[in-house]
This record gives sequence, C-alpha cells and structure tokens, in this order.
Amino acid sequence: MSHWLLSSMLAAALVPVGAGAATAGQAAAAADTGIPVESDLVRQKCGSCHTPGPDRMMTRISYRRASPENWELTIKRMVGIHNVALAPADARAILKYLSDHHGLAPDEVKPARWEAERRQDDFTYTADATTTQICTVCHSLGRVLTERRTKPEWDLLIAMHRGYYPGVDNQPMYQGQGFRRTRKADPAPGADNRDPAVKAVAHLSTAFPLVTPEWRAWSAAMQLPAMAGTWIVAGYERGTGPVFGEFTVTADAGAPDAFTTRTDLTIAGKKVTRAGRATVYTGFQWRGRAAADGDKGTWREVMMIERGGREMSGRWFTGAHDEIGIDVTLTKVGADPIVVGTSVLSLKAGTTQTVSIYGANLPASLTPAVVTFGSGIQVTRVAALSPGRLDADVTVAADARVGPRDVMVAGAARPQALVVYAKVDGIRVLPQSGMARVGGVVFPKQLAQFEAVGFTNGPDGKPGTADDLMLGPVDATWSVEEYTATFGDDDLQFAGAIDASGMFTPAVDGPNPERSGNRNNVGDLWVVAQHTPPGATAPLKARSYLLISVPVYMRWYGPMVDAGGEK
Ligand code: HEC
Ligand code: HEC
Repeated sequence: MSHWLLSSMLAAALVPVGAGAATAGQAAAAADTGIPVESDLVRQKCGSCHTPGPDRMMTRISYRRASPENWELTIKRMVGIHNVALAPADARAILKYLSDHHGLAPDEVKPARWEAERRQDDFTYTADATTTQICTVCHSLGRVLTERRTKPEWDLLIAMHRGYYPGVDNQPMYQGQGFRRTRKADPAPGADNRDPAVKAVAHLSTAFPLVTPEWRAWSAAMQLPAMAGTWIVAGYERGTGPVFGEFTVTADAGAPDAFTTRTDLTIAGKKVTRAGRATVYTGFQWRGRAAADGDKGTWREVMMIERGGREMSGRWFTGAHDEIGIDVTLTKVGADPIVVGTSVLSLKAGTTQTVSIYGANLPASLTPAVVTFGSGIQVTRVAALSPGRLDADVTVAADARVGPRDVMVAGAARPQALVVYAKVDGIRVLPQSGMARVGGVVFPKQLAQFEAVGFTNGPDGKPGTADDLMLGPVDATWSVEEYTATFGDDDLQFAGAIDASGMFTPAVDGPNPERSGNRNNVGDLWVVAQHTPPGATAPLKARSYLLISVPVYMRWYGPMVDAGGEK
C-alpha cells in the first residue's frame, strides 16, 4: 500500500464521530452511547490524536470495550506504530483504566475465557460461518469474542486490518475483489452479493455491540472483593493428576488492585514454592506472574474471580510453553473447615488403601466416624492429620455400588470427589487430538503432553457412551505409530518422540536434507497408550491423533515495539 493511502486511512480513522457530514454509520454510532473517558492520564497521553469531544467522549477509545489482552495489543500498537511516548508505569496505568472502564463483564468473558487461559481446546463458533472463516486466518477467534464495539468501530477495525495487512484483500475477507480491485462479474440476481468482511461486520455489530445489559449491570456493580488471605489450590495437571497447595495473597499498596503472592504446591510429590505479583482487572480478571528460584520462565496466572470472592478458577501456564499448564480452582480460606479434593479420583471395589483428603481448617482431632465417603466405603483409621490434609485408610466393599461419591469431613463436603468402580473397562488418550510444533533452531518447540485415563462403562454397560464414568489417570506405556496419510509416509522416522510420561517432543524446525523433498519435520502420528490393570491378562489400548505442525512464524508484536518504529 502506498504511504499516502495508509496515512489517509489512519487520519480518517480518527475523525470524531458526528464531525462533518453525518454518514449512516455515524448516525448509528450516535444511537450507541459512548463511554466517557474520566482519566486525565488517558486524555493527556492519547488526546492529541483521539480528540476529546463533548461529554468527555474520545474518538475510537469511547466506542470500544475489550479484554486487558486486546487493550494491551492496541496500546502497544500506539507506541510501536504511532510513536506515542509512554513510560512503562503510564502504559500500565492506562491499560488498567481502560480494562476497568472500557472492559468486559464476567458473562461476556466466560464463553471465550479459553483465549486468555491459552487453552488449546478445539472451539467451534457456530453463530456465524463467515466470521469464523475470515477472522481465524491469522489469530484465534478468541481475540474477536473478547471485543465489543459500535458498528462504525467494527468497520474501522476491518479498515485497520486492510491498511496494515493489504494481503487480506486477496484472502477470503474480500474474495480478492476488494479495495482497489476490479469487481468480478456480478453473481446471480438475488444472491447475497456482500463481501465476506461486510457480512462479518453485520454479524459482529449485532452479536457484540458496545452497549449490553451484561456490561450495564457489571459496570455499576463492579467491586473487587477482599483478595488478601489464604486460598487453597485444587488443580489438575495433564500427565500428573491432581495437584494441591496453598496460595497466599497480600495487598500491594503500590498500585490499585495489585497483589503479591506466594504459591506452595505439591506436584507429583515434589514441593514447589513460587513468589509472584498480580493485578486484577475489571473487578474479576486475575492476571499474575510467578516464579520459583531458578525457574527459567515465569508462570502466568489467568483466573476469573467469582462474584463474592470465595472462589477463583482458571489456568496457570508457563510463559515459554503455553501448552504446559495446570487447571486450577482456588477457594478462599475463612473460619470454617473446607474440603477441596482427594489424592485419587477413583476407588476400586474390594480394595483397601490410604486416600489423602485436602482442604483447610480441618479439626485438630477427628474420629474416623466423621470422615465419610458414602455407601460401601468404610474409613477404618485417620492415619495422619493436619489443618490442610487428612490421610484416611479406607476399605471399599466388594459389592460397593458403582458411581460418584461425595467426601465429607466434620460437615465440610466435596461433592463428587471420586468414583467407585468395579473394573477398568477401557482407557482413553487425552487430548483426543493434539498438536505439537517443530522448533528448537529458530523458534521454540511446542510440546504435547498426553495422558491415559481409565473409564468404566456406565449403567448401560457399553463403552464410549455419555454415562461412562471417568476414573482419572492410569499408568501407561507410550509409543507413536504412523498415521498413514500418504504412500511411503515416513513421519514416524522424523517428526519426534514420546517419552515414558506421555510427553511428545517434536524434532527440530527447518528443511531436513535427509527427508525426501528436503521437507520440514512435520507430519501426523498416532499416539498410543497401553495400560494393564492389576490382575488383567491383556493390556487395554487407546490412541489419539497428533499433528506435528510448523512453528508460529508470525510474532506480530515483540520486534515491532522493540524496534520502536514501523515494520
Ligand atoms: C499519534 C497519534 C495517536 C496517539 C497519541 C494515540 N493514537 Fe490511538 N490511534 C491512532 C491511529 C492513527 C489509529 C488508527 C489506526 C490503528 O488502529 O492503528 C488509532 C486507533 C486507536 C484505537 C482503535 C483500534 C482498533 O482496534 O480499532 C484505539 C482504541 C486507540 N487508538 C487507543 C489509543 C490510546 C489508548 C492511546 C493513548 C495511550 C492512543 N490511542 C494514542 C493514533 C494515535
Ligand atoms: C491478515 C491476518 C488477520 C486477519 C485475516 C484478521 N486479523 Fe485481526 N489482527 C491481526 C493482527 C496482526 C492483529 C494485531 C494488530 C496490531 O496491533 O498490529 C489483529 C488484531 C485484532 C484485534 C485487536 C484490535 C487491536 O486494536 O489490536 C481484533 C479485535 C481483531 N484483530 C479482530 C479481527 C476480526 C473481527 C477479523 C475478521 C473480520 C480479523 N481480526 C481478521 C491479523 C488478522
């Protein structure tokens, strides 16, 4: 794109709503109430271009709401491309102000929470096929679902994409017939002749408008609950199983809604202690970072705080490998005893074992009679007891009924803490389809952790149906097999290897001269797990599909901001 075109587009993007001749789009904007900017810092740092209008409205800024992550992207672009001079402390304060006052309500974040939690989950957006198709070409749809705008602002977002990435006109956005191009022959009369980007804006501006009942309610009610104190962590790590620990939050007087944290976890029998800091945005979005002494990367904490402040949940993951993480639920410790989980997720009928129960404020002395697991399970002894953990010796009757059980300790309950089963009927490999990325030379590798979980057929006696009961992780031996997609497929030889814990490490990136066609070490494989339950003669087997792809070559931000100028 020529420079004058880019500049005129950018200038047009800043025209105050309602200035000059009103277009249909601007009339529509006037119907949407903008959000007044009350922050002097925002007005001072951003107002030279985003002209403040009447009622403290500012162009662009007043007509958009977004997640802290999306606001960060925008602010970085203002610094990186538009040369806005911002000291780091001011940038953080502006990010905080805009996320709080031009943010999203909990009910708006929930359906897309996987975006900030960096989950690899498969997600299908069914509300509009065109939006899904054209807005997932370069980034996750989660970025789109965590935005709210007026119609003119959705139009300007498209203009921003076209201005910076003119290639989109040749992609599905404009079917190669958009901006400065000659239209192809008109389609049949009556056909929907609109460009895909126009259809997408029509959908986005009705599905994700600036003004919503959710935001109206939340922006009035929003207040941060008292976060300081001790929280009990109940987590689950793929490949490891249940993880428990304590999380101590201390208010940081230095900044609003800021905290320092200490994490004490036990992961696979090892104690891990981390120190960290966090900020809460919009009264419910916890964003923290923590590291142990000697940790190479920091752990990120992305959680949603429940209204009332008794619970928060989300995902902790490593900065270097977003794919490695723990699903967590944190419960605030008050005066009463609480139970958050057990060391195992299932118990086999006809066995005797010790089960650890995790919680807080457990009584200083207990008789086995007040530790209950429901019918068919007898607690014979309290083997160890501390305020946060209780080890119970349990005997499961041979004829104990199959099904979920609640665990209770002196009146505190954990509903559906575990499942009683008679036989492991089969195993599954999770995730059912995974993805790794080659790397290690120029880009970091993306690993893929698999786990084998047991299940027992539910009441219908059939495997693979909705009433199957999941029994938690089982020991497995791991291997990879060829997923035969082409004649003479050789991915098995080149794509990478799986270790004894179910972790797949892909091979290095870049062309491989030893491979036909000098190909990269990409491919697809079956990940196979075998588990032999105690007493069984033949192993149970299951597999999962693994795609080994190329690295994410495009890291849009880092370099642009570091270089402090245009790309
Ligand atoms: C030097 C001029 C300038 C300053 C100062 C400036 N901006 Fe911008 N801003 C622009 C231009 C040009 C655009 C349109 C192109 C774009 O989106 O990059 C824009 C677009 C935006 C948008 C719309 C982005 C979108 O996703 O559609 C937002 C929101 C925004 N700016 C916020 C801010 C904030 C917050 C500040 C203060 C930290 C700021 N701007 C300071 C020039 C500026
Ligand atoms: C050509 C690749 C590409 C396509 C296709 C694409 N995006 Fe983006 N999008 C980007 C990039 C790159 C950024 C980061 C922009 C920047 O800050 O430089 C971005 C940023 C965004 C943002 C954050 C806004 C901001 O101010 O940074 C939103 C929201 C967004 N895109 C929505 C969409 C929607 C909606 C569609 C479909 C209509 C779409 N994107 C299609 C590449 C793309």
